[in-house]
Formats: sequence, structure tokens, C-alpha cells
Amino acid sequence: MDHEPDRRAFLGAAAAVAGGLTLAPESAMGQPKGANAGAYALPADLSAHNALSLVLGRAGDKSVTANLVAADRLEAFIEYGTEAGKYALKTPPTALAPGQPVEVAIPDLRPGTRYFYRLNFRRPGDAAFNARAECQFHTQRKPGDTFTFCVQGDSHPERPQMSEPNLYARTLQRAAADRPDLYFCMGDDFSVNKVRAVNAESLTAPYLLQRPFLSLVAQFASLYLVNGNHEQASLFNFNQKGELHDVAVGVQTARNKLFPMPAAEGIYTGDARAFRGIGLLRDYFAWTWGDALFVVLDNYWHSPAQVDTGFPGGAGKREDKPKNRDWWDITLGDDQYRWFKRTLEGSKAKFKFVFAHHVLGSGRGGVEMSEFCEWGGKPRGKGAGGDFKTKRPGWELPVHQLMAKHGVGVFFQGHDHLYARQERDGVVYQEVPLPADHLYATHNEDAYTSGTKRANSGYLRVTVSPDEAQVEYVRCWLPKDETATQKTGDIAHSYTVKARS
Ligand SMILES: [Fe+2]
Ligand SMILES: [Fe+2]
Repeated sequence: MDHEPDRRAFLGAAAAVAGGLTLAPESAMGQPKGANAGAYALPADLSAHNALSLVLGRAGDKSVTANLVAADRLEAFIEYGTEAGKYALKTPPTALAPGQPVEVAIPDLRPGTRYFYRLNFRRPGDAAFNARAECQFHTQRKPGDTFTFCVQGDSHPERPQMSEPNLYARTLQRAAADRPDLYFCMGDDFSVNKVRAVNAESLTAPYLLQRPFLSLVAQFASLYLVNGNHEQASLFNFNQKGELHDVAVGVQTARNKLFPMPAAEGIYTGDARAFRGIGLLRDYFAWTWGDALFVVLDNYWHSPAQVDTGFPGGAGKREDKPKNRDWWDITLGDDQYRWFKRTLEGSKAKFKFVFAHHVLGSGRGGVEMSEFCEWGGKPRGKGAGGDFKTKRPGWELPVHQLMAKHGVGVFFQGHDHLYARQERDGVVYQEVPLPADHLYATHNEDAYTSGTKRANSGYLRVTVSPDEAQVEYVRCWLPKDETATQKTGDIAHSYTVKARS
């Protein structure tokens, strides 16, 4: 237990993250210290989001949560109503301290209703409030309603070779213009790979960096984060002593303070187990929205074995994947599997959409990987043995077969950094493209041996109507790369998923 004093000291710092994390001055906002220092910021015309950003989450039938972060001391309130330009209701004024995220509940809403709102703020001593432009959100849709949700793949701001901030902002603004009710990030959005000194500030920096970017769309849409391997938010790290444990606690604490993820409450079910030093993980959750069931799975918080890359640490090493691993060791865990099975069995929704960072949380490919171990039942790797019944006692079916049995329409994943659409047993495996790859690559395409593949960048727009869901890959380009035949907003690929009867 000789690591305990250090851990206590760190957890004290983590509590400081929770209660009063400190941001840089407004002029430097969007360029937090630590990971990605100085390089990755919004274009100047969007810098208001550095000074004050709003992210919506946990949209329900009668409430939504707005998470506010300001660079300076401010007072803010939200006025809202059901008609554009008319705001009959408002939240009480909220005092914002520099860098301290505050959740503002917007209660007493009507189900199945679009609301229009404005964020108002003033500096201490100012008489008048400044009003932001009008935004909107929607409460839980009723069956039969047509609505849109959007999905982005790995944004990887720490990798200049596949992530350009101006293109990222452009993609987010293009998605916001669709006015989606819901917005999903597939993971690898908050990498701590470049963190060398582990402390609250360095682990929070990737989350602060994303705030002004994601607020571009999440001021209009309830945001849902999927955990990726580069977040290093994992049970394997949590179960280690010292630095790795501190990383797991620190990043999950920052994530839940800066982004309002659901727990098992209201219209949501999900992970009910609290972790020491963190509380509820808010990592896997499910809910119904209109005619669709949405399920977000977590590949990393329930596997005692290391799933993918490790935390590089102070020397920048230890990033390797585990050597000679037994793929049966990688797991969603009994609790998450049972909850997933219950969720699918209990849903009569016409559409079922499932999200995870990747099949088995590691490897490359979609349907190719879906055949193995707890996802598909076959052993993987040279000399690997074992069968599903003995490796997963009490599990009715492997994950893929469970999804096929219960009519999952689309399984969304990230991690492979391209657009790829495949199908197996009626389940679409949809690899989601990068939002900000300014080299417009088609990474890992060799791993996909079937289906339709397209190059980056852009996002997915899914329009759910009573009879079918239309999935569209919306391309996004930097202005300098647009031509007569390639423009932001072009549809690179499209298909429909029929409603289950
Ligand atoms: Fe990635
Ligand atoms: Fe990944």
C-alpha cells in the first residue's frame, strides 16, 4: 500500500477537478496546457465558445441537462420556450467560476416537444446580460415521430496526421445544421497518450480541449460519448497500483464533470455500480427515442484484462497492446452482458441501434472480428482454444448472435478510421468515418474484406421515420479542398434500414 499517500494526493487533485478546475485565461482558451498544448484550437470566428461553452446531455421526457463552462467569472441563465423567439421560462441565474463546470437542470418540460432557448450571461458588475444566438433541443420523441441523429468517428485531436481543427469545427457545424436530436462520439476523442506527468490538470486537458468543439453541435443535440481505447478509462488501469489507477480515476472524473452522461435514471437504464473515487461511471446506458432503441456499450470498464493499447506513461513507452493475449480474456463483463440482453429482450422498438468503440474493443475490421470469442463464439489466435459455453457460462448467446436474434439494425463502431458498411445475419456493421482527417485517407481498408468503403472525412446522419431509417455519410472538406465535384454536404454513401414489424 506504499502508493496510498500518492494516490490520496492525486485524488485530492481530482476532487479539485470536480470542484474547481482552473482554465487558462480567455485569450488562451481552447489551448489548455498538457496534451495537445497550443496546437489545436477553434478558428477565431468561433472563439466565443472558448469563453463560454454549453453542452446538452441526458435529454429525457421532461428534462434536459445543460453543462456550462466559462473561462472567467460570469453569471448565466437559460431562457426557453416552445416557440422560436419567445421564451416564457427561464432557469435561475447561475454563478460560474473560471473553469468550473456547472450543470443546469432544465426541468418541467413537455414530452415530445421542441424547445427554443437562449443562453444569457454577464460579467460581475455589468447591468445587462448578453444573449447568445437561439439554439434548440428536443425532449424524448414519441413513437411515429421522424427525427435525426448524427454520429462522428474518432476525432483524435492529439494526432496532427489525421485531425485538423478547422476541418473538425466545419464537420461539427455541418452536423449541427441538421438539427439532430442526439449526437454520438465513437471514442478516441480524449486521448491521454501524450500525457507524461500524471496529474489532474494533464488528465483534464483533453476534455477541456474538446469542450468548445463539441459545444458547436451539443448546444443543439443531447451528446453521448462512447469510451475508446485511447481514453485509458478502463478496469485494467483502475485495478493497478499507482499511476495507472490514478489515470483511470482522473480521466473518468474529468469526463463526467465536463460532459453530462446518463446514469440509470429517468428514461435511461445503465451501469448502476459505483467505483471508488469516481462514483457512477455513466459508461453504458440505453434509452428509447421515438421508434428507436439506443444502446451505448463500454469495451473497457468491465474487462479485467487489458483490452488494447496501454498508457504510455512518463517515458512515453508501454503503449503496446498486450503480447500473446488470450482474446477470451477481453469482455464486456457479466453485468453489462446481462443488462444488454435484458435491454434487447425487453424492447419492442422498430429500430435498435447499438454503439461501441469496436468489436471486442480491439483488433481491426467489422464482421471479420465479429466471429470471435465472446462476440461470435469462435476461438481467435494461433493455438487458441476454448468454446463459448465454457468460456462464458450463463451467457445465452455471443454478442453478435444476440444482436441478430433481437433485430439490431445497425452496430456502430469507430477505431478503424474509415467509412465501411458491412452486414452479417441482418445486422449492419457500420464503421464511422473520422470527422477531421484533412488527408482524407481510408485507414485500415484492407481489414474490411467485404461491404462498401469510403475515404474520410465527415459524419453519419441517420433519419429515423416510422417505416425506415436512412443512414447517410455526409462528406466534409476544408474550403481549400472543395471542388466542383467534392463539396461539404455531399452524400458519399447512403442506405436504409427497414423497420421491424
Ligand atoms: Fe482511433
Ligand atoms: Fe480506438
